[in-house]
Amino acid sequence: MRFKFLVLSLLPGLLAAQVKPVAARVDSVLALMTLQELVGQTNQYNGFWNATGPLPVGNDWVEQRVRALKQGGVGSVLNVAGVNQVRALQKVAIEETRLGIPLIFGLDVIHGYQTLTPIPLAEAASWDLEAIQNSARAAAREATADGINWTFAPMVDISRDPRWGRVMEGAGEDPYLGSRIAEARVRGFQGDDLSDPSTLAACLKHFAGYGFAVAGRDYHTTDYSAHTLYNWILPPFEAGVKAGAATVMNAFSAANGIPATGDSALVWGELRRRMGFTGVVVSDWGSMGEMIAHGYAADVRDAAHRALIAGCDIDMESDGYLRYGVELARRNPADSIRFREAARRILSLKFQLGLMDDPYRYCGASQPDVRTDAYEMAVKSSVLLKNSGVLPLASGLRVGLTGPFAAEKNGVLGNWRVSAKDQSAQSLAEAVAGTWTYAASSPHSVGQEAFHAELTLNQTDTRANDAAIKALRKHDVLVLAVGEHGYESGEGRSRASLRLSAVQQDLVRKALATGKSVVLVVYAGRPLVLEPWIQDGAAAILWAWQPGTLGGSALADVLTGRREAYGRLPMTFPRSEGQIPLSYDGYATGRPGPKPEVFWSHYTDEPNEPAFPFGFGLSYTSFAYRDLEVTPSPEGWSATVTVRNNGTRAGSDVVQLYVGRQGNGQLYPTKSLKGFKRVILEPGSEARVRLELPREALTQRDGQGRTVAFTRGTLTITVGPNSREGLTWTTTLNP
Ligand code: NOJ
Repeated sequence: MRFKFLVLSLLPGLLAAQVKPVAARVDSVLALMTLQELVGQTNQYNGFWNATGPLPVGNDWVEQRVRALKQGGVGSVLNVAGVNQVRALQKVAIEETRLGIPLIFGLDVIHGYQTLTPIPLAEAASWDLEAIQNSARAAAREATADGINWTFAPMVDISRDPRWGRVMEGAGEDPYLGSRIAEARVRGFQGDDLSDPSTLAACLKHFAGYGFAVAGRDYHTTDYSAHTLYNWILPPFEAGVKAGAATVMNAFSAANGIPATGDSALVWGELRRRMGFTGVVVSDWGSMGEMIAHGYAADVRDAAHRALIAGCDIDMESDGYLRYGVELARRNPADSIRFREAARRILSLKFQLGLMDDPYRYCGASQPDVRTDAYEMAVKSSVLLKNSGVLPLASGLRVGLTGPFAAEKNGVLGNWRVSAKDQSAQSLAEAVAGTWTYAASSPHSVGQEAFHAELTLNQTDTRANDAAIKALRKHDVLVLAVGEHGYESGEGRSRASLRLSAVQQDLVRKALATGKSVVLVVYAGRPLVLEPWIQDGAAAILWAWQPGTLGGSALADVLTGRREAYGRLPMTFPRSEGQIPLSYDGYATGRPGPKPEVFWSHYTDEPNEPAFPFGFGLSYTSFAYRDLEVTPSPEGWSATVTVRNNGTRAGSDVVQLYVGRQGNGQLYPTKSLKGFKRVILEPGSEARVRLELPREALTQRDGQGRTVAFTRGTLTITVGPNSREGLTWTTTLNP
């Protein structure tokens, strides 16, 4: 019975079929399939059965799913992990269905599998594409060794709204940085060969525009211009497609009156025709059925039909294709062809993954040790936002550690931790045990901590704060681990207020009142708003994000200077929620200022400027920039700048190149990142750093999606350490 499908499909001759190209092999499988089996490939179920146990009885829901599986009605599953589970379920697909076509096993391997790396936004803060690629590679090695062959990552949604909890899963606000990171992650997950059993098929998500949820509220509709779609939202998808991403996921959101899962213009027009994507499109969880709640589809049959027409190949958990697919296909030959083409793409992926040759391919490897990769990534992700000189902490200092995240082993893992064990992070307190003194402060939350549940914050009980400060007040420096829990950011976790909780503010206030140097280590899945009294009062602020399994030692090493402060912000940090959405790359206004009267674009109660700009991050040494030279090159322009390490320690800076464009008959962002390079310098040494600006990087798409070259007007090139500072050079093209 094993490999029944292979035996059938290879009847003309095993050897001949082995060397056939994938397309021909897919054709030979399609030729054997009934309409029901074709539709079955497009159905994806969540893990539904303890596959290593006995067959379920007496549970209608599970029984229906098992029946569907055995009738060839399931093409892929998600959230079935662990070699035993995967092997057992695969065995049913292979041995108990008519054709024995293997399942694909998908999972949200977003920032690691069992060993967690920092959340993706944190990784983006490293601006280190090699490290990010390696981190994805490490996740792939760990997950594939446990039977998984498809990850629903990377999320490449651009967002300017830190209220939206899912910013933790993306690469921030910038389409250029986001595109480079999309490529790095796709390469890291997929490697060069999808059939290599240590690689995962990647999934670019969420197509498209999910990051522009109105008012930052998750699952909300979106509202963005065509300019925003073409120049911010789509570029990272295009980069990921070019890097070879095997799959793309529809967004939950709707725009221009159409939910993304039903949007033909997006999927067929942009993704398939313009970007040339030939892989599999999967719905988001239930996003097909949610078109009814959006008010767009009449019922599940209608939703399934609309999704099918709009190019959605796999229905994740709406049960639309399985219930109505055969009926739709029988009624309309065009729909029958659509299902066949969807099945063709899904089967091609199964061949590419090597599952058609060996369905148990991902069930054999031993678990790799990726802890060093997770540690390195955590070191490189933290961002030093303020330092009055107290950091790195000198060895003789008496350091007191407190704050709700100091001894935390759960909340610091991040949001997407489906396979990590509870309490498996090394905490900061553990990493510094025996060197610093730790005292517990009031807890941040009370009650249940779970992926699906709302976290209940401790709003009032400050008793332990007093005890902690009392215990530590004789120390020279107080390190406060504050911020938000991993389950305060991520899916379904939008926040209207981005401040520290009242109980944490109480702790900071009491720590500052001691008069000692206070170092804030802020754990967060997003930019938060730190009030001026906190920012001004703290001697240093290190943004730790949610650093994952090895965050404790990574942060301890940065705080004590064993490792350098490395990260730079991938998102603008607002001063207050009222400034949101906020990014460094907005358009200029017709009423710039400041002006003595009110008639300019501003707030009456807040500056326009952010708290910390995109690209910003301090290091333990200081760098000076001089002598920017820009020369035309055959391809565009070369910018060269001298960077000098003026401090007393070796260190590195991220040299960033921004352009401004004006006068070409379109609006352009006042600044757009177009290149960056990390330079490593010994104290007192300097280097000429060269960045290339290809002419085509100046193009922009107009409201109709047409590419417009920058042929005339003023071009400003700024090279510096962040989006606010730098040396500029200006030229006028074809005046
Ligand atoms: C919903 C999320 O939006 C998506 O990103 C994820 O991959 C799926 N659930 C599957 O868990």
